[in-house]
Amino acid sequence: MVRRLVIGAAGQLGIELVLRMQSEFGAAAVDISDIRVPDNESVMRSKFLHLDATDEGTISKILEEGQYDEVYHLAAMLSATGEKKPLAAWDLNMQSLLHILEAAKDGWVKRVFWPSSIAVFGPLTPKNNVPQNAPLDPTTVYGISKQAGEFWCRYYHEKYGVDVRSVRYPGLIGHRSTPGGGTTDYAVEIYECAARGKSYTCFLKADQALPMMYMDDAVRGTLELMRAPKDQIRVRTSYNLGAMSFTPSEIGESIRQQKPEFQLNYIPDQRQAIAESWPCSIDDSDAKEDWGWQAKIMIDDMTNIMLDALSTTNETLEP
Ligand code: SER
Repeated sequence: MVRRLVIGAAGQLGIELVLRMQSEFGAAAVDISDIRVPDNESVMRSKFLHLDATDEGTISKILEEGQYDEVYHLAAMLSATGEKKPLAAWDLNMQSLLHILEAAKDGWVKRVFWPSSIAVFGPLTPKNNVPQNAPLDPTTVYGISKQAGEFWCRYYHEKYGVDVRSVRYPGLIGHRSTPGGGTTDYAVEIYECAARGKSYTCFLKADQALPMMYMDDAVRGTLELMRAPKDQIRVRTSYNLGAMSFTPSEIGESIRQQKPEFQLNYIPDQRQAIAESWPCSIDDSDAKEDWGWQAKIMIDDMTNIMLDALSTTNETLEP
């Protein structure tokens, strides 16, 4: 049995990835860890290990004892929160990655997944259909940490043969977990309000296009990347990963096809400047060619899924 560990299992992506792994491989095939206990009963069917990802001693101990085949290291502080606590964001995002790369170098883990982000791009990057090798020009601490992390991953791969794999996620939208501290989080909040018959005030401008992806595509892509034969992984920094691009106003239109009464207002805040520095759309042809990536869910299908799912749950997605 392949043994997996998800670090950051209580986060937006962590919960979804663990749920998918549990249904595909069984709860015993994945251990989970986080600094807080995941607020999800199903996720907690897997073995939980308390972990502060900046604590090198505990990480080494868990990885040495666990003998994991695969570690998915998702713990990070995202773009908007990172701007409020720049040094803490740098510390968490970088220290944790380096501890895990060191453990992999020492042979305690066979394969590592670490997510990068569209936040590595910036004003010098083309806005549309950003190629794989476009200039990285991050303006946030989160983006700087992802840029540095990408090159650390490649360094550990080239120098020590560590099999570390990565994708640059766009904004992720799902209904089984809540995002926290990101600039793209509006795209989850908007569905939550619409499903409950409430209006929504967006913190980005109406015409701010960003690259986005439905969560099931992101989770499937992650597992496909990790399953791909080693020699097919030619990009050892991080793969561009695309799905769709839309503005808050376009998502509002998509919602109104089902809920014509839905009201959307705009009061842009400091997150608008972050969004403005990012591209609108991504060219992911390297991921398609190397390991067969293909996004499946586009905006109107996503709207149907999100509104259906959030209308039938009683719980509110609270951070
Ligand atoms: N979703 C992230 C953020 O908004 C970008 O990767 O910070």
